[in-house]
Amino acid sequence: MIVHDSERRLWVLSGPSSSYVLHLDDHDRLRVLHWGSRLTVAQAASLPLLPRQPFRPVEDAAEGTLDLTATGGLFYGHAAVQVRFADGTRDLELVPTGQRRTDRELVLTFADRHYPLTVECHYGVHEDSDVIERHLVLRNEGEPVTVVRADSATWVLPRLDGYRLSCVRGQWGAETRLHRTELPYGETVTTSRRGVTSHQANPWAMVDDGTAGEEHGEVYSCALAWSGSWRLTAQRLPTERVTLSAGAGHDPVTQELGAGEELVTPVCAGLYTDGGFGAASRAWHDHQLRHVLPHPGEARPVLYNSWEATGFDVSLEGQIELAEKAARIGVELFVVDDGWFGARTHDAAGLGDWHPNPRRFPDGLGPLIDRVHELGMRFGLWVEPEMVNPDSDLYRAHPDWVIHRPHRRRTEHRNQLVLDLSRPEVADWLYRTLDELLAKNAVDFLKWDMNRPFTEAGPDERLWTGHVRALYAVLDRLRAAHPHVRIESCSSGGGRVDLGILRRTDQVWASDDTDALDRLEIQHGFTQLYPARVMGAWVTDSPNPYTGRETPLDFRFHVAMAGVLGIGGALTDWSDAELERAAELVADYKRIRPLVQHGRQYRLLPPDRELSAVQYLAPDGSETAVLVHRRARRFGHPEPGVRLRALDPGARYRDRSTGRIHHGAVLLAHGVFPDLAPGDYASALVHLIRE
Ligand code: DGJ
Repeated sequence: MIVHDSERRLWVLSGPSSSYVLHLDDHDRLRVLHWGSRLTVAQAASLPLLPRQPFRPVEDAAEGTLDLTATGGLFYGHAAVQVRFADGTRDLELVPTGQRRTDRELVLTFADRHYPLTVECHYGVHEDSDVIERHLVLRNEGEPVTVVRADSATWVLPRLDGYRLSCVRGQWGAETRLHRTELPYGETVTTSRRGVTSHQANPWAMVDDGTAGEEHGEVYSCALAWSGSWRLTAQRLPTERVTLSAGAGHDPVTQELGAGEELVTPVCAGLYTDGGFGAASRAWHDHQLRHVLPHPGEARPVLYNSWEATGFDVSLEGQIELAEKAARIGVELFVVDDGWFGARTHDAAGLGDWHPNPRRFPDGLGPLIDRVHELGMRFGLWVEPEMVNPDSDLYRAHPDWVIHRPHRRRTEHRNQLVLDLSRPEVADWLYRTLDELLAKNAVDFLKWDMNRPFTEAGPDERLWTGHVRALYAVLDRLRAAHPHVRIESCSSGGGRVDLGILRRTDQVWASDDTDALDRLEIQHGFTQLYPARVMGAWVTDSPNPYTGRETPLDFRFHVAMAGVLGIGGALTDWSDAELERAAELVADYKRIRPLVQHGRQYRLLPPDRELSAVQYLAPDGSETAVLVHRRARRFGHPEPGVRLRALDPGARYRDRSTGRIHHGAVLLAHGVFPDLAPGDYASALVHLIRE
C-alpha cells in the first residue's frame, strides 16, 4: 500500500511488515528517510528530515540518502542516472514534475531543468510481499542523448553499526558459492559483461550489520530482473552511509536515446526483512512463487535427462531404452538433451539446424515421443536457439546473422557464435523455427540452453539489451502460442538464473557439476535468493564424471531431493537393485514434493559442516521433511541433533518411516538424531507428519 502526505512531501510504501519512506526535500531531491519495520504515515511524518551537519554543503550531506541520483553539481558518489547530452553536458538537473499513484504503484516524475529529458521512478508494492519493485523510464524529446548508466533502483540503507555484504560468486561448474564479507569503503562492484547473467556473479546482494545469522537479524537485499549484462554497485561512504544500486548494462557500453525514444529499465526489487538470512530467503522465495513464476502452483515433475548418459551419441533405440528404465523408477518427464538435430554428432556442427537428424531419427521424433508418452511420461527436448555453429546450414545461409564487428577476430567458443537477436529478422526466424518444431512435435518441455557469452559485440547497448529483450519476447510469444509447454533455463549450467528469466521459465538448471557433495554448496548459495521450486538437481552416476568422487545412491538422491528432482545417470548401466532403490527414493520425493516445492525452507546446518541439513515445512505446518547429509565422519566427534524450526511446540509429529512419535517442543530444542549409516556420505530423509 502507498500513502502520500502532500504537506510533508512524503510517500510511505508498505508491505505486510516493512516500509520504505520517500521524501522530496527542500532542494527537490528524492531522499529515503526509512527502510525497515512498517510505519504508519503519522510515524513516518515524525522521521528526522535531515541530520544537522552545519559545516557541510547540502548536496554532500545528502549523499548516501538519495533514492534518485544523477551526475551533476556537488554529487560525486555513484550516480544511478548518467547521461551525455548532444552538446557534451553531463550534468543532469532534475526537478520534480508530478506523481501518479494507486494503492499498488507510485510513479514520481522528474524533468531536466533545460533539456527535454524526463525520468520516471516507478515503484510497485504488494499486499502479500515486502518486496518493492522499482524501475525507471527515461524519455527524450530532444537531440540524441547518450545514456551511460540507468540503474533500475538505488536502495538506501539506514545507518547500521557495521556493514556486511553477502553475494554469490563462481564459475562454470561451481556456481552460486555464497560469499560473506565486510563491505569495504568505496564502491564494490559485481557485474557481468558477458551478455548473459553469468556463472561468475548473480545480480543480487544482501547487507546486514555483521551480526545477522540464519534465523536472526535485519537483512537488506536487492535483486535485478535481467538476463543480460548488469552491474550492481554497493557503495559505502566514509560517512557510514550505504547504498545498493543495480541496473542492466556494463561499462563502457552506452545507449543512444533519439528524439521521441524512451528507455524502460528492468525491475530491481528491494526487500527488508527481520529474522536473519533464512527469513530473507523465504521472503524472496514466497515472492517468486506469488509474483514472478509463470505457473507457480504447479508441481515440477521428476525428470530424466540424457546428457550425462549419452552425450552426443543420441539414437532412437538408445533413448527408448533409457526411457523405459526411467519410467520404471517413476520419472514423469523424459528429456532428450543435445545431439538429436541436424549434423550435431559433436559440438562443432549443427547448431541452428533445428530438425531431427535424419540418420538418427529417420521417421522424425514421432516414434520416440509416442513411446515416451506411452510410458506415461511427458517429453522434453534440448535446444540452444540463440547460437549457431559455422558448420551448419543456417550459418551457410546467413553468415551475417551473428554478433560480430568488422575488422575484428570472430571469437568462437565451443565452436559456436551468437546470433544477433536484436535484429528483427533473426528473432523472427527464431520464433518461427521453434513454433514449427513445437507445432509438428508433441513436445511438452524445452530445455533452453545458452552456452557461450558475447564477444566482439560493439559499444552500442542496443545490441546487448536488444538481444535480451528479443529473447524475452520470443519466450513470451512461444508460451502464448503453446501454453502447455514448460521451459527450463540453462546456460552451461547456472549461467542464466535471475528474476527476469524466471518470469518466463518454469525451472533452471543450477550447475553442470552434478557431484552431490559439491552440489550441497551450490544449492546453499542458490537458495539464498531462488526457491527450491525452480532448482533443477540431478542424480547421476558414481564415480561422478566431473570429480571422480564415489558416493552412495541414497546420498545423491537426498541431495537432489532438495530441489526439483531429476535423474541424469546412465540408467542402462544401473543394476536391478539400484533401479529398485531409485524407485523407492523417487516415491519418497513425490511424497515430500509439496513441501519442497511449495513449502518454506529452513537451512538448518550449512554444507561446510560435517553434518548439514535442510528442512521444508508444509504451508499449513502439517508436515515437515528434513534432508540430512554427512560429508565426513570424524572419530571422537559426536554428531549433534538436528534442531528443527517453525514447528508447533505443543504438537506431536509421527516419523513416516519409523512410526516414532516426537514432541514438537523436543524437536525444536534438541532435534532429530537420524539413524545414519556409518562412514562418509551417509544421508537420511526424515519425514514427520503432525498428529
Ligand atoms: C550445457 C548444459 O548445461 C548441459 O546440461 C548440456 O545440456 C550441454 N550444454 C549440452 O550441450
